[in-house]
Amino acid sequence: MTSFEFPGKYYEIMRRDFRNLAAETEFLASLMPDGGRALDLGCGTGTNLRELGARGYSCVGVDQSAGFIDYAVHAGGTNVQYVHGRIEEFDTDDRFDLVYSLFMTLNYLPRTELRGVLRKMRELLLPGGHVVLEFGHLLNFVETFQQHIIAHHRGDGVLITRLARQSLNPHAANWRNEETLLVRESDGRVSMYDNFFDQAVLTGPEVRELLADAGLTVTAEYGGFRKEQAPGHGRGPLVIVATAEEARSA
Ligand SMILES: C[S@@+](CC[C@H](N)C(=O)[O-])C[C@H]1O[C@@H](n2cnc3c(N)ncnc32)[C@H](O)[C@@H]1O
Repeated sequence: MTSFEFPGKYYEIMRRDFRNLAAETEFLASLMPDGGRALDLGCGTGTNLRELGARGYSCVGVDQSAGFIDYAVHAGGTNVQYVHGRIEEFDTDDRFDLVYSLFMTLNYLPRTELRGVLRKMRELLLPGGHVVLEFGHLLNFVETFQQHIIAHHRGDGVLITRLARQSLNPHAANWRNEETLLVRESDGRVSMYDNFFDQAVLTGPEVRELLADAGLTVTAEYGGFRKEQAPGHGRGPLVIVATAEEARSA
């Protein structure tokens, strides 16, 4: 279950509080040849793609949120094409130098769909291409779990108050986030949005096994987009880079 149907401009404001876009862009760009092709699975409001498009890469983004794709289409930018749809159902004849999924989007997919999605990522790679996955691992969930969250995000004259309730289903290894966003615009207008999502609690070994099953070899693992060392213990993201072992015959 996933909604993410609230105005993309509010997502962009919140995203800035969690992410380092410059580091993400450098990291992704370093894995492509000049003018290469990138596919962003779960592109949200197109934040990463706009940056890559501006650097001359040719980009495609897929997201299930109609509101986010609408924002992305109207946000401008060059060399980027957006597809409104679910990652599990996405298909194309295009091939890419880089296929990536960032900011825990992988965790949003139904667990039963992951194997097929990673195989699809492999199929969509050009020879020598890379897959980049940044997902929430077990410790992210264990250490950041809070039953109730009240957080404020500010930007562009807007105040967003996020009221969230988190719950875990340990038997399904599933984490549920139900949140209400209260937004006050600079002119005093107030609006409210309900957002909810379920995320599979993934583990490194599970994702590595899925990558191997898809014919992808892990070439690097980092604790962030500045190529920080992946922490042996404790919280922090996990960024995995993988390549196809060899071109498979069709
Ligand atoms: C935390 S956001 C990350 C968006 C983007 N990657 C970024 O870095 O800003 C998760 C995104 O995954 C999308 N999403 C979740 N499940 C999806 C699915 N099955 N197919 C396509 N998009 C999905 C949501 O709509 C949302 O935009």
